[in-house]
Amino acid sequence: MLKRIHKILLQKKTDSRVTIQGWIRTRRDTGSFSFLEVNDGSCLANLQVIADKKLANYEQEIIKLSAGCSVVVTGDLKHSPAKGQDVELHAESVQVLGWAEPETYPLQKKRHSLEFLRTISHLRPRTNALGAVTRVRSRLSFAVSSFFQERDFVQVHTPIITTSDCEGAGEMFQVSATGEKNKNSEQFFGSQAGLTVSGQLQAEVYALALGQVYTFGPTFRAENSNTSRHLAEFWMIEPEMAFCDLACNMELATELLKFVLQDVLENCSEDLALFDKFIEKGLLKKLQNVVEKDFVHITYSAAVEELSNVVDTFEYPVKWGIDLQSEHERYLTEEVYKCPVIVTDYPASIKPFYMRLSDDGTTVAAMDILVPGIGELVGGSQREERLDVLMQRMVAAGIDTKEYDWYLDLRRYGTVPHAGFGLGFERLVQFATGMSNIREVIPFPRTPGFAPC
Ligand code: 4AD
Ligand code: MG
Repeated sequence: MLKRIHKILLQKKTDSRVTIQGWIRTRRDTGSFSFLEVNDGSCLANLQVIADKKLANYEQEIIKLSAGCSVVVTGDLKHSPAKGQDVELHAESVQVLGWAEPETYPLQKKRHSLEFLRTISHLRPRTNALGAVTRVRSRLSFAVSSFFQERDFVQVHTPIITTSDCEGAGEMFQVSATGEKNKNSEQFFGSQAGLTVSGQLQAEVYALALGQVYTFGPTFRAENSNTSRHLAEFWMIEPEMAFCDLACNMELATELLKFVLQDVLENCSEDLALFDKFIEKGLLKKLQNVVEKDFVHITYSAAVEELSNVVDTFEYPVKWGIDLQSEHERYLTEEVYKCPVIVTDYPASIKPFYMRLSDDGTTVAAMDILVPGIGELVGGSQREERLDVLMQRMVAAGIDTKEYDWYLDLRRYGTVPHAGFGLGFERLVQFATGMSNIREVIPFPRTPGFAPC
């Protein structure tokens, strides 16, 4: 509603009668009236309501209003003569729907730390910062869908309960059932099942039937990583394309990132300006740069060479064959190149079985996109489409090929080169908002030791 009012204002159509519904942020009284700042969550800006002393419930109710109370206000929208707002609502009636006791309501006018707000995840969306994050997250989600739909990708809902560990890292949550008869998933499903770590393998099934597909859903990892970039439950966008190699995969990922960031720059300017001012100075410029400039492409071997010239900076020493740590990734993107970096051709020994083995026999056609402030934002690869090579890689990784017979069938019947990637949605929201902790960009974060509601 307030968003609509601001649109009316842009068209200079004020002096119109409106009804708004929202929550009080602040109240200030003068001798003959009260100023009420009301917000309905549709946008960052509050609407200033002027409630005259002559209103019937002024003494009984209006001067008792405090932060968090819910109200319905009807009145005339007028251009405001005061500084700080363009428009104000002259109330004809102020109806109180719900009170919020000021002695106990935790969101008082002062600024609260993001850490404190995490302890009240049921109330934090009522703050400016978390409201803005939620709107940007929603817009990013819409932009992701628009991007794929405009390019004729088909959305596939891959399963949340699965019997395959896509990443082969053994970080799955086991599913079990309550009740006497179904104590474990083996009894329920006939085999051990868990929550998905990635929809990729099932997306591959659909890509090899429909060409270009994507999944966008929740994924779960039981890794004990208590960092500012890891969640136990997060959302991932995973496109998968038949007849596509690593180069085409990188191109799609680059276009996707540029498209969605451009979209929020255009459609969430008010919220992004808040983050630019209070959360990450220079955020708008950073996002603009990503949209406009080329990403750097380097191979893993070149990255390792670059990093091994750096003395005394890293906790983990760098040598060919290691998995790059967050400190290495961030050094490349923040210190060396100062822009998004796509690292390709990782050693086969540190990557999952499904990545395509290159002709050198030691690297795979993998790519990670690293961005400043985050490190890895995207992880993807061309997939191994050759049955014999795939089976060898699976056996070497200790995987029972019988359990993946359905996956191998994709190589037995009409196999084609194909590729895809996973974009961590919360890391994308982090990058777009400048929030340094991933717990701020998902409504209800789940991390080791933390899942309050
Ligand atoms: O690199 P990952 O593990 O790749 C896959 O899962 C592939 N199956 C994707 C594919 O090719 N279809 O994860 C992909 C991305 C990471 O780059 C990161 O952005 C995000 O998912 N991610 C996490 N985000 C939050 N919390 C975690 N614990 C995450 N683990 C990965
Ligand atoms: Mg990865």
